[in-house]
Amino acid sequence: MKRVTNVKLPSMLTPAHISRFGCELHALGEADEFEFDFGPRRWFPPFSMVLLAMHLRRFRDRHNGANCFVSNFDNHGYAAHMGFFKTFGLDHGNAPGEAPGSSTYVPIQVVRRRELAEQAWQKYSEMGFAIEEKAAALSSILTNRTSGVLQDTLTYSIREILRNVFEHSEAEEVFICAQHWPSRHEVEVGIVDAGRGIRAGLAENPNFQFQAHRESLHAALMPGVSGNIFAGRGDETWGNSGYGLYMTNRICRAGGSFFICSGDAGLWLEGKRKVDVPCDLQGTAVRLFLKTSQLSDLKDRLSGFHKDGIRAAKEIAGANTSYASAASQMLSRDFQ
Ligand SMILES: Nc1ncnc2c1ncn2[C@@H]1O[C@H](COP(=O)(O)OP(=O)(O)OP(=O)(O)O)[C@@H](O)[C@H]1O
Ligand SMILES: [Mg+2]
Repeated sequence: MKRVTNVKLPSMLTPAHISRFGCELHALGEADEFEFDFGPRRWFPPFSMVLLAMHLRRFRDRHNGANCFVSNFDNHGYAAHMGFFKTFGLDHGNAPGEAPGSSTYVPIQVVRRRELAEQAWQKYSEMGFAIEEKAAALSSILTNRTSGVLQDTLTYSIREILRNVFEHSEAEEVFICAQHWPSRHEVEVGIVDAGRGIRAGLAENPNFQFQAHRESLHAALMPGVSGNIFAGRGDETWGNSGYGLYMTNRICRAGGSFFICSGDAGLWLEGKRKVDVPCDLQGTAVRLFLKTSQLSDLKDRLSGFHKDGIRAAKEIAGANTSYASAASQMLSRDFQ
């Protein structure tokens, strides 16, 4: 007899709901047929959209011998426009990167290592600069500006998360989706890779080899903690120092929130609050959520976080306590 499994999308599409849905999805046993019901029309926030698409992609790859049917996908015109369905292989709507975007949103797009390396090579410069250029271009789409506090803050934060993908995850590509709501003073950016995950990235450094994903995640967010054993030594512009995730999560937590998940651990940070979120992700997903009305000069904020970080790193065994790399303290145009 044919084994048929019905899968309903969660009724709410918050990051925590999608994370839990991912756990349920990947725990499903084999079947001959899977029927996905996308249900009634509802709001697809950018991070949730890209994370859900990546879960469905992994599911499709794992169950490639089974028939998958999807119902009610035509209730989701906005998601189709943003490239959601084609990201996981359903032939409906735009492909990732196809929709032009607007002054308020970036539809799902793929950033490839090969393309960044090519750009860097053509300019005889380093990958770090090509990544920063990409981050600045994405921020400009969202802010409709080429300078200013929000533009700088977004460029810095997106740059640090993209650098991590290409420096630590071993993934060849990363998916990104974002939106700015000027009247609500909010920006949300979702960045998801299907690479080796934080635990494996961090374990490159014998000081930070943990069994649990959760422990690795907590450690990676601390100042001076890096998978690169040479972190903090040498003075290359784009050298690692273990400060990227620390600085970025502090930027977001001041008024907004920061969510990161990898392996079976997810962590939601908001102000002084930390909440564990169940998760099952091959790779790493980061959600940056900024409250734009609370932003002051980026350089001042980074310098404050840097001072706090150096002090805190002294209490962490194995952390780089000497300094944060030039890049992790500012945007490259400030030190060129
Ligand atoms: N996408 C990722 N995939 C795998 N591992 C990651 C990823 N992002 C971060 N990590 C791990 O977390 C560690 C801490 O990241 P963080 O950005 O804070 O510091 P860094 O990248 O080592 O140094 P810096 O950002 O100062 O150049 C990384 O060294 C890496 O081991
Ligand atoms: Mg980094």
